[in-house]
Amino acid sequence: MALQISATNPEHPALLLELPWDVPLEEWPEEYLVPLPRGISRHVVRYARAGSEVIAVKELAERPALREYELLRDLDRLGIPAVDPLAVITGRLDPDAEPLESVLVTRHLGGSMPYRSMFETTMRPATMHRLMDALAVLLVRLHLAGFAWGDCSLSNTLFRRDAGAYAAYLVDAETGDLHPQLSNGQREYDLDLARVNISGELLDLEASGALHPSLDPIEFGFEICTRYGELWEELTRTSVYPAGKYQYIERRIRRLNDLGFDVAEMQIEHSSDGDSVTFVPKVVDAGHHQRQLLRLTGLDAEENQARRLLNDLESWMATQDDYAPGDPPPSSQLRSSRGDPHAARPEVLAHRWVRDVFRPTVRAVPLELRGSMDPAEIYHELLEHRWYLSERAQHDIGLDSAVEDYIENVLPKARETLEPVTPE
Ligand SMILES: Nc1ncnc2c1ncn2[C@@H]1O[C@H](COP(=O)(O)OP(=O)(O)OP(=O)(O)O)[C@@H](O)[C@H]1O
Ligand SMILES: [Mg+2]
Repeated sequence: MALQISATNPEHPALLLELPWDVPLEEWPEEYLVPLPRGISRHVVRYARAGSEVIAVKELAERPALREYELLRDLDRLGIPAVDPLAVITGRLDPDAEPLESVLVTRHLGGSMPYRSMFETTMRPATMHRLMDALAVLLVRLHLAGFAWGDCSLSNTLFRRDAGAYAAYLVDAETGDLHPQLSNGQREYDLDLARVNISGELLDLEASGALHPSLDPIEFGFEICTRYGELWEELTRTSVYPAGKYQYIERRIRRLNDLGFDVAEMQIEHSSDGDSVTFVPKVVDAGHHQRQLLRLTGLDAEENQARRLLNDLESWMATQDDYAPGDPPPSSQLRSSRGDPHAARPEVLAHRWVRDVFRPTVRAVPLELRGSMDPAEIYHELLEHRWYLSERAQHDIGLDSAVEDYIENVLPKARETLEPVTPE
């Protein structure tokens, strides 16, 4: 059987053909590999270079490889944060014509770290709570989309910085199943698997001395259940309001937006006596601020980063002469300005902000000092630092001085870890 590459993008097969598919992955020569930290796995996984991309190659049997590829494509279509599937390669033969396992190729998730590497220095409990928050958001998003993970764990998740918090990505979809909708039983089962897996992983860390002594692995496993439960309740609960009090409904929608979720439809029913209104939101997806930022500025950021950047953009807009004060803020629904004919449209102001504020600020931080931080994360760090220094000085010290001080005093001390850089 000949080597077969199934890929979504026509450019990929050509680049992939340059890799040594006739050699078992474990024996690939160094020259093809990229030495980045890997999590634990049953299958052999390696990172390699394909053109300008870094790819993750996982060796597994043909059927599960094709299945996982399809599931990852489904998740992509549903807008769920997961690794991007690039190709499945089957029909591999070694030089003696002995068959080799198929591989699944995904794009390496830039700036991400497997949790094991994050624990190389004992992680502070506060950071652990943030990881659980991120994982709970991911699990809720998957469940809202009808995806039962079947093996939610820390090692099947990748974490990326997100404005001092984390964003979680699904990395292993092999055991997943997509349904039109999940029953409560299916969700509970999935959540229970997550709890057991996480406790097990923390027990391992404890045994190797990498767990903070104040954390109990079993107890901590329940944290995912609590966080998930709270979020699910807030997103899906039915609320009853006195008739005519529509501002309550609006307030609930705003709270959901603040949590990063959008409401696609809502079901509003009046009670038979007309005294009350029942409201059930149909929450579609997270990424509310992410989408706003992308539309306004073209910047693609994580959800918390996007919220932070939008706030900064908003305060900057208010200082501009051609800003129409009556305009809705960029973080709310966007409409073009009415009334003042000289007022600039928010999109125009937003592009000016990217050009005159965001980009020059980020560029002021030398590339070699940025570590694994992307531009949005750097900007967030600079805003934090400005806030910190301004609090200390009791007046706004301005962004330029904050940048200078950050480069001089904070960056040199920052270690190459996922822990957010916090001023001492
Ligand atoms: N696209 C990617 N980007 C970054 N890291 C990746 C990527 N794909 C895989 N990895 C790393 O490889 C590890 C193993 O991948 P994966 O969980 O898919 O393998 P597995 O053998 O199926 O694991 P399991 O033992 O759970 O079955 C992950 O934990 C992650 O650290
Ligand atoms: Mg795995």
